[in-house]
Amino acid sequence: MNENQYHGAFQTQVPFMEQVRQWNVAYEEKNGRKRRYFCFTMGCQMNAHDSEKIVGMLEEMGYEATQAETDADFVIYNTCCIRENAEQKVYGKLGWLHHLKRTKPELIVALCGCMVQQETVLEKLHRSYRHVDIIFGTHNLYKLPELLDARIQSGSPVCDIWKEQGDIVEDLPSHREHPYKAAVNIMYGCNNFCSYCIVPYVRGRERSREMADILAEVEALVKDGVKEIMFLGQNVNSYGKTLSPQVSFAQLLRETNKIEGLERIRFMTSHPKDLSDELISAMAECEKVCHYLHLPVQSGSSRVLKEMNRRYTKEQYLALVDKIKAAIPDIFLSTDIIVGFPGETEEDFEETLDVVRKVGYSTAFTFLYSKRTGTPAAVMENQVEEAVAHERFDRLLDVLNPKIHEIHSGLVGKTLPVLAEEVSRQGEDMLSGRTEQNTLVHFPGDPSLIGQILPVKLTENKTFYFLGERVGNE
Ligand code: SAH
Ligand code: SF4
Ligand code: F3S
Repeated sequence: MNENQYHGAFQTQVPFMEQVRQWNVAYEEKNGRKRRYFCFTMGCQMNAHDSEKIVGMLEEMGYEATQAETDADFVIYNTCCIRENAEQKVYGKLGWLHHLKRTKPELIVALCGCMVQQETVLEKLHRSYRHVDIIFGTHNLYKLPELLDARIQSGSPVCDIWKEQGDIVEDLPSHREHPYKAAVNIMYGCNNFCSYCIVPYVRGRERSREMADILAEVEALVKDGVKEIMFLGQNVNSYGKTLSPQVSFAQLLRETNKIEGLERIRFMTSHPKDLSDELISAMAECEKVCHYLHLPVQSGSSRVLKEMNRRYTKEQYLALVDKIKAAIPDIFLSTDIIVGFPGETEEDFEETLDVVRKVGYSTAFTFLYSKRTGTPAAVMENQVEEAVAHERFDRLLDVLNPKIHEIHSGLVGKTLPVLAEEVSRQGEDMLSGRTEQNTLVHFPGDPSLIGQILPVKLTENKTFYFLGERVGNE
């Protein structure tokens, strides 16, 4: 391990990484195999990206991956708490791990991520799940080596949760899931406090990374073969507001667009209230920025949107969509929709259906409202009955899905550039990849083509994906 490889706060972790690595080397010499880790990730891309760093640190410390949890010496759950069922799943898993630990006393179990940032959860863990060895939160992920070392040295459980965010820690080792596409955090936290949402409480206040750090990271990724990057933030449109001097997200896109060798730029998520004309122009003018925009509407009812604290009306949202479509005619839009927010009436729900019909999304992530303790919506009157919410949810899909099919039908017969990403689940002689508009395509092809951007003719519209064939490959 080269100490000079790391900078800033992460340097404090280098001696701990070395210590754990030695411990793992000794194990390997004795047992003829490395210690194995199993990392399970829940939630959004932010968590997925955090897990790449967790895995990066574990591998740096001499662990190797296993896909079989029962074979692991170190199990880590990177948790999500956006909806209640995510939390239930974790408690279920912890119960099962308790049993596993009885047969494998050496097993180390770690829990991190958004769920453990909640005090009520921590209390419950301390009370009823004492077999969890290491707990850390979203603000101090970089301290994993130190906490793991402390657990190994002491043999006792270690818990370190920061209530407040510290400075952004740069330069963690990372193990990318895909060789050709990579996620890059541009900001952390959220200041919007939508009334249903737990994220601001578990991810802290909004703070942006310095543009120079982001650009340097993208350049390094491109040198390493990455063609497509995804800028991540809870609300990328307010990127740079906490920096001095201030910079805008549009400026970041324009600078990134200049990076030679980079082919595609994506980003998520955009909050409709902050989407500027400057950003629309940058999207239209920067040839590497994909013509795809995730623009969560949440509800079509202006009354509900006000209760949600989204700070736009149905009319403003639709006007924004029109403006974007006028500037970028071939853009595809996707969205998030919550059904059954407290007080949602049949009329409110009809407004949501109206937005779905008018916008014509290419993808939509639909959620049943889930009550999150500590958020303003949790104590609102008129929580919608479960049966009513379910019925609306089904009706929403009945409107959404034919509309998605219709939007995609415009692509049939077209030949579009597709980044071949992996061997397709449709068959071993097939590849899957995405168009610039984020449409999934399965097409016949050899694994040696993975990582290339290929012209693919979209032949069959299967609503949520396409079948296609390569053009000019004879
Ligand atoms: N920052 C992003 C979204 C992050 S959470 C944004 O503002 O768009 C991803 C999605 O989960 C949200 O868009 C919302 O649709 C959904 N969500 C958040 N809290 C929820 C809750 N309590 N119940 C149901 N869905 C929720
Ligand atoms: Fe949650 Fe709203 Fe922030 Fe998105 S913008 S993370 S929905 S509070
Ligand atoms: Fe993401 Fe879930 Fe946390 S959606 S930010 S992992 S609560």
